[in-house]
Amino acid sequence: MSLPLERVASIDDLRRIARTRVPQPFVDYVESGSFAQLTLARNRNALDRLEFRQTVMNDVSQRNLGSTMVGERVAFPVALGPVGMCGAVRANGEILSCRAAHCANVQFALSTNALLSIEDVAEEVKRPFWFQLYLTRDRGFSRELIERARRAGCTALILTMDLHVEGTRYADVRNGLGVPPELTAFNAWSIISHPRWALGMLGSKRWSFGNYAGRVPASKLKEMARLVKEQLDPSFDASSIDWVRNQWPGKLIIKGILEPGDARIAIEHGADAILVSNHGGRQLDSAPSTVEALPPVLDAVDGRAEVFVDSGIRSGLDMLKFLALGATGCFVGRAYVYGLGAFGEAGVRKALEILRDELDTAMALTGVTDVRHVPRDVVRIPPDLMGPNRGRRMPVRSHSHQTGAPKRKPQIEELNQ
Ligand SMILES: Cc1cc2nc3c(=O)[nH]c(=O)nc-3n(C[C@H](O)[C@H](O)[C@H](O)COP(=O)(O)O)c2cc1C
Repeated sequence: MSLPLERVASIDDLRRIARTRVPQPFVDYVESGSFAQLTLARNRNALDRLEFRQTVMNDVSQRNLGSTMVGERVAFPVALGPVGMCGAVRANGEILSCRAAHCANVQFALSTNALLSIEDVAEEVKRPFWFQLYLTRDRGFSRELIERARRAGCTALILTMDLHVEGTRYADVRNGLGVPPELTAFNAWSIISHPRWALGMLGSKRWSFGNYAGRVPASKLKEMARLVKEQLDPSFDASSIDWVRNQWPGKLIIKGILEPGDARIAIEHGADAILVSNHGGRQLDSAPSTVEALPPVLDAVDGRAEVFVDSGIRSGLDMLKFLALGATGCFVGRAYVYGLGAFGEAGVRKALEILRDELDTAMALTGVTDVRHVPRDVVRIPPDLMGPNRGRRMPVRSHSHQTGAPKRKPQIEELNQ
C-alpha cells in the first residue's frame, strides 16, 4: 500500500504502509504475539465487543482532552510504551518517537532493550522522557541503569514485572530473531528488497542494544543478544519493587499487572501507578484481555494509585472505552510503531494525531466533555467479559454526562442496562 502522509486516515493505514517499508522479519517481530497468539486476538476481540451508548441530549461544544499522567501534564491521556529494538523499525526510531511524543505533548518511554541507549536519546531531545527497566540478574547493572536514567533526567521509571522469562514468538524463531540471531537467506533477501530502510540504517547511531554497550563489543551482535537474554532475571518478586523504590525517588509505574492481588502488592511496595498490561499479547498466552483484567484491578487499587492500561489499542475509540472502564491513561505500542515504520517521526506524530482526533470525536458522540471524567456507563460490557462483582465501584452518571461525577455506586445489573 502506498499513500501520502496527508491522506493517511487510520492507524491501520499506517500499519499497511509500514508493512511495505520495513523488512518482513522486523514486521513479524512487531506484530507477533506469543505461542498461539490467543491473547493477542483476545485483546482486540474484547475491545471490539464493548459497545458505546450514544446519548445525544448534551451540549458538547467545549471538550477537554488535557489530563495528567503521574503528575505530568499531557495533551491527552496517552503515552508511547516501551518497545525493545524500536530502532530496528526505522533508524534512530527511539529518538524520532520521543521527539514526536514531545511535539504532541505526551510522554515516551524508552525500553531497557532499545537499540539506542538512555544517553543517545537524552542528547537528542529537549525534554525528559520515561525509562522502562527490566531487572537484570546482575543487580549492579540494574542499579547502574537506574542511576543513568536519573542522570538523564528521566521523570518516571516503569518497572516491567511480566517478563521473568520470555514468551515464545514463533515467527521470531522461524526468522532467526532468536539467540543468537541468524542472518538467514530470508532475512538477507528482506533487507535487500528494502533499500530505503537499509540505507537509513547506515545512519543509525547503533545497531545493537545500546544500554548494554561497553559490556560486549558492539560489533559482536550474537554475544550481545546472548548477554541480554542471560540477564533476564526469573527471580524477581515483590521485594524487588522495594529494591528499586529505594534507589528511585521519582514516579514508579509497575507494568504487566493483570491480577488484583498483584496490584495490591505493587501499591503496598510503593508503586505510584499500575499499568494493566499483557505485554500486547506477547507474554503469557491465554491470559485475559486487558478489558477483562482492568475492572477487578481498579477495584483492588480503590483510588490509591493511578491505573493505566495498554494492549490492543488501535484507535481513539479504544482509548475512550478504556477510560470509561476507569483507566486514567493509556499506553500504546504497535499503534505508534506502525507510524514509525511508515513515515518515521512524522508517522509517529500522525499516529498520535489520529488517536487524539478519534478520542475527541468519540467523546463528542457519547456526550463526554472532559476526558478526566468519563462516566462508566459510556460503555456496555457483554456479561461474559465481566466476572462477578467486576466494575462495582465504577462511576456512573445519574443524569448528565457533563458533570462526570459519580452520584452513587450502581449495582452491576444497572451498569449494563
Ligand atoms: C515490538 C515490541 C517490543 C516490546 N518491547 C517491550 C519492552 O522492551 N519492554 C516492555 O516493558 N514492553 C515491551 N513491549 C510491550 C509494550 O510496552 C506494550 O505493553 C504493548 O505493545 C501494548 O500492546 P499494543 O502493542 O497492542 O499497544 C513491546 C511490544 C512490542 C510490540
